[in-house]
Amino acid sequence: PDKLKVALLGCGVVGTQVARLLTEQADDLGARVGAPLDLVGVAVRDLSVPREGVDPALLTTNAEALVAGADVVVEVMGGIEPARSLILRAIEHGASVVTANKALLAQDGPTLYAAADAAGVDLYFEAAVAGAIPIVRPVRESLAGDTVRRVLGIVNGTTNYVLDRMATDGLDLDQAVKEAQALGYAEADPTADVEGFDAAAKAAILASLAFHTRVSIDDVQREGITSLTADDVAWAAGTGHVIKLLAIAERNTADDGTEGIQVRVHPALVPADHPLAGVHGAFNAVFVEAEAAGELMFYGRGAGGAPTASAILGDVVSVARHRVLGGRGPVESSYADLPVLPAAAA
Ligand code: NDP
Ligand code: HSE
Repeated sequence: PDKLKVALLGCGVVGTQVARLLTEQADDLGARVGAPLDLVGVAVRDLSVPREGVDPALLTTNAEALVAGADVVVEVMGGIEPARSLILRAIEHGASVVTANKALLAQDGPTLYAAADAAGVDLYFEAAVAGAIPIVRPVRESLAGDTVRRVLGIVNGTTNYVLDRMATDGLDLDQAVKEAQALGYAEADPTADVEGFDAAAKAAILASLAFHTRVSIDDVQREGITSLTADDVAWAAGTGHVIKLLAIAERNTADDGTEGIQVRVHPALVPADHPLAGVHGAFNAVFVEAEAAGELMFYGRGAGGAPTASAILGDVVSVARHRVLGGRGPVESSYADLPVLPAAAA
């Protein structure tokens, strides 16, 4: 193709950085893809809000029309609707899709995967889990020939930042959440972070990929950090621990002998000398244990505009290359390797 038309849905914390990188690195990206990437429009709700570094002529409130003419659609608006309908519309029109929307994937991923599969287009979502850290691709592709036993880690930057600020400076939860919002780490509604919904969505996505089955956010046992006080955090420190919000997905055997997987998110006491205790600020870290590979650790910035945009741009280059060279990335099968065990049964 002469060029590939890229449509951006959303221009907030993440979208602004995606637009910046697409513009500033246009020549390099075009060379890597084998065809120029042309940002043809940016869908927003409010045209009057200034968007740093984004040509105002690209802004539109007509997202439906924008996706219909694009080769690659990048969805960073968040929420379930209209993101879901717009992604399905993009796929119907034959566009490749890149999304950071973990809430949507954890609620209705199979519908989107099936649509992409039927249309023969890519659906990539590296940015949906752990920001800049390459974790979706390793679990989805590199470990596809191994047997994963457990995935465990810190997958929410906001709560890690908040717990850190409570521990180091004695801030209360609300103050620390306000800081995380100002730094662009929190979800549009930070309840998703502090109540553990965001980590649960990411745990569901990782578990689905790791165990080749379907795990929705409703399958995840969830407890957030809202009941924790600065005193709790200080008490933990006094016992040689730090409190971390952990996401854990593992193979388990229920009392009746049924083999399956269990997925949960909850605050945990981590010994101060454990590597997870050294994960500060909005950083994330994920351990994966697989039979042949053994233990792997992934670490890096888990939230924020630029780190998340890095993961998105990597996906954009991959799906755009497929359009230029032919071929497709991985397809999510409906094969169910293991059932999800009810929480009480494990
Ligand atoms: P923001 O709230 O900062 O930005 C959302 C953008 O989407 C805004 O530009 C908003 O427009 C636009 N938008 C929302 N709804 C509509 C709509 N109905 N029609 C048109 N435009 C719409 O969110 P973030 O950038 O922080 O997050 C975006 C996505 O990325 C979410 O799915 C989030 O979970 C995910 N994500 C975020 C990370 C982060 O660190 N922030 C990290 C990893 C993933 P307007 O500006 O006019 O209101
Ligand atoms: N709100 C999320 C977090 C953004 O704090 O981890 C990254 O997914």
